[in-house]
Amino acid sequence: MRENGDAVVEVLDLIKDYRPGFGLRRKRILHGVSFSVQRGEIYGFVGPNGAGKTTTLKALMGLIQASGGQARILGCDVSENDFREHIGFLPENPYFYGYLTAREILDFYARLSGLDGQRRCRRVPELLEWVGLGEASESRLRTFSKGMLQRVGIAQALVHDPEVVFLDEPMSGLDPIGRKEIRDVILRLKSEGKTVFMNTHILSDVETICDRVAIIVEGRIRYEGRIEDFLHEDDLMSDVVLSYLPPELGEILEAKFGARVRGVGGRIELRVREKQVSQLLRLGLEAGAEVVSVTPHRVSLEKIFLEAVSTSSSHLIRNESARKGERS
Ligand SMILES: Nc1ncnc2c1ncn2[C@@H]1O[C@H](COP(=O)(O)OP(=O)(O)O)[C@@H](O)[C@H]1O
Ligand SMILES: [Mg+2]
Repeated sequence: MRENGDAVVEVLDLIKDYRPGFGLRRKRILHGVSFSVQRGEIYGFVGPNGAGKTTTLKALMGLIQASGGQARILGCDVSENDFREHIGFLPENPYFYGYLTAREILDFYARLSGLDGQRRCRRVPELLEWVGLGEASESRLRTFSKGMLQRVGIAQALVHDPEVVFLDEPMSGLDPIGRKEIRDVILRLKSEGKTVFMNTHILSDVETICDRVAIIVEGRIRYEGRIEDFLHEDDLMSDVVLSYLPPELGEILEAKFGARVRGVGGRIELRVREKQVSQLLRLGLEAGAEVVSVTPHRVSLEKIFLEAVSTSSSHLIRNESARKGERS
């Protein structure tokens, strides 16, 4: 297999047209999408509902044929088969037979992946432990919560120990605990050197675990890169918490730094530009204040995301109605 540097997924000018119905005009869903995923990273493919995330992933998995452009995984064109044993896939709404137990369903998928009896006996319990379902391995899936089912789905994608894992909306519809459990599983995959590609519309999850993101809106990539790279130096802010601050100093600091001052239980919290932190600390310490903490404030991905989406207001309206119709 030929690979270009350390890119395990390379997508170049991908186009997908659909004909909504017989006699109707073709509709372009993907307008020349390009991005690449490097080995060992967690890559977030982010966008509102209907942006084209699942369509892109289906084209990568070879489930649909693109109308134009190129997509390669591990150096192979996605129409080839050589790379398939090295990738795992969690579809958007996986369906599992409720009367099977977690162990039975994983054993079934392991058979499909061609693992012999001996390897299955080792791999299935190991995987169930790995995704935190060891204790529930003999319970029927119909008794599982959505978070547990999603972990079964991830385990299913991992039976054959793939190098690259593709997940379509792995956290969608989960409560905060369920989301954290999935995040931990994804971070563990990364720590084992796997590459993870993840479709999602949940920005907070992207911010906490992804190394790089692409933002797709209406079938076009609006941003690609590290979250930090989107920000200008001027946007980098820090939250400084001081205590024992002489009352008049608060006002001075507010005036001097244009800082947003917030009193919290005898302490004072200021948000200032990162480059002003040393000067602020010097002033505070000289006036007898104590430094409680200095925390970099991460400008939310939401800001970048909203900017990318808001360039098309018609899209926002469509997205809103799509969200209303979304199943929880
Ligand atoms: N088989 C299909 N035929 C026609 N249109 C489709 C088909 N599949 C998806 N679409 C349209 O493509 C757009 C992108 O869908 P999708 O890739 O599922 O978005 P996302 O996963 O980002 O929410 C949507 O407008 C959807 O209606
Ligand atoms: Mg989707």
